[in-house]
Amino acid sequence: MKKIFYITTPIYYPSGNPHIGHCYTTVACDAIARYKRWQGCDVMFSTGTDEHGMKIEESAKNAGKSPQEYVDEIAERFKRLWGFMNVSYDRFIRTTDDYHKEAVQKIFKAIYDKGYIYKGEYAGKYCVPDESFWTESQLVGGKCPECGRDVIDAKEEAYFMKMSPFAERIEKLLTETDYLQPRARVNEMVNNFIKPGLEDLCVSRTTFKWGIPVPFDPKHVVYVWIDALSNYITLLGYENSEHDDMRFWSADAEITHMTAKDIVRFHSIIWIAILLALDLPLPKRLYSHGWFNFEGKKMSKSLGNVVDPFVLGKRYGVDSIRYQILRDMPFGGDVDFSDELMLTRINADLANDLGNLVSRTVAMVVKYFGGTLPRDRRPDEPADSELIGLASGLSAKTDGLIEIPHLSQALAEIFAVVSRANKYIDETAPWILAKDEGNKPRLASVLYNLLETVRICSSLLAPFMPETMVKVWGQIGANAEETAYGKAGAWGTLPKDVSVKKGDIIFPRFDIEKELAELESIYNLP
Ligand code: MSP
Repeated sequence: MKKIFYITTPIYYPSGNPHIGHCYTTVACDAIARYKRWQGCDVMFSTGTDEHGMKIEESAKNAGKSPQEYVDEIAERFKRLWGFMNVSYDRFIRTTDDYHKEAVQKIFKAIYDKGYIYKGEYAGKYCVPDESFWTESQLVGGKCPECGRDVIDAKEEAYFMKMSPFAERIEKLLTETDYLQPRARVNEMVNNFIKPGLEDLCVSRTTFKWGIPVPFDPKHVVYVWIDALSNYITLLGYENSEHDDMRFWSADAEITHMTAKDIVRFHSIIWIAILLALDLPLPKRLYSHGWFNFEGKKMSKSLGNVVDPFVLGKRYGVDSIRYQILRDMPFGGDVDFSDELMLTRINADLANDLGNLVSRTVAMVVKYFGGTLPRDRRPDEPADSELIGLASGLSAKTDGLIEIPHLSQALAEIFAVVSRANKYIDETAPWILAKDEGNKPRLASVLYNLLETVRICSSLLAPFMPETMVKVWGQIGANAEETAYGKAGAWGTLPKDVSVKKGDIIFPRFDIEKELAELESIYNLP
């Protein structure tokens, strides 16, 4: 039986153009989904757009468009970006899709019928851009604790969902399982939200129209979080006949949500309450990563500090950008994004380390053996064992790191082997071996060891940089079978008389000073 694996990105608000921050979560999920498919799992990878709510209604108005026209355009832009970034999602859900709207109405009604939703009145502090009500005590200096902007007093008739019946089970999930990663976030959820007593959640609105009507009281629209979070099951076919993939939401499935830390509360408390109310299985993992900051601030459209992924991908290569963002975001922490950090990383790891390893190895096989290694070999020497050991043990390490999922560390492990291989070239000095005909069998062994190391590293890197790694395989003479998952730990997979083929430089080097000046003029930064 294939392992069933389901991974989700948040569904993004189409309130502005997608930026490098959205790319991070989506590309991280893509790398994991590709890795899992490579391992032979039955994978569902979903993403989409969260299109309802007051903020969207307002943004559309400001743009002089109807909400539907407005979201259609931006959803298209998200899809275009994911195509451009080589994101292999299986399903893109829009909360304005008919099947989703119908299913959300059924979900709302089901929770209501079970007695967990009741009608009341909401009075509180409301942050319009975040669409969140806050209690006085949650405000920070009188401002929204999430974005620091002004809040307004608001009051309205509303439906509420009871949270207290689920508090104990939510706390158990958070404290007794590995659901929420990194674990450091568990205390924050338990101490700030569960221990003080979970407040009931406001689940409907009457002050705006752009939403899914409450089926039995249509002057209300479903407030965004029940609408948004339900996407993870409606896109599989829950309460609708559009899809038939509920095996991805079964007790057998390994369900992984990925979000940044901003929406951990919704995914670790509210979403779990909704699932418990519906008697559905609980997901296995919520991975909440940190922020890409831009000059010290969280990057978002409203802060006006957007870095355009289309510009960066076109100039530096989509795979290089994919690599850089995944490599530089530490596990759970934040990172300051800068063009300099990005270019330094691309030059050091991709152009110098990996690019050089591939081009030097292939060039030497061509120069000393006309492109095909001879079968006549000398056995490996003790000096080879460190490299062989590291390379053949690498996939066991990355398998473990992908599970957590600690992507930056997985990439660091792979590049440690790439560096070791470059050092091996210096140690074995093939150009000296080549001077003596009698050393040709040893030279062939050295080059074979390098090709095998490149095969293993590039196989493991393919989920992260799919396009370029296929080019590498073309150069080192590896085929699909030799780069299959089962072969990642199998040293000696390439045929002894493997043939290589020189190709273009896989990762060009950039002149950092020049690029920084040009990017500055493109972005028109002060
Ligand atoms: N629509 C809600 C999510 C509903 S999910 C059921 C939402 N949308 S959002 O457009 O604001 O997207 C937030 C998500 O975008 C973050 O959780 C994160 O995945 C990603 N990021 C947006 N900006 C980011 C950074 N600057 N850095 C890292 N991730 C970023 O919240």
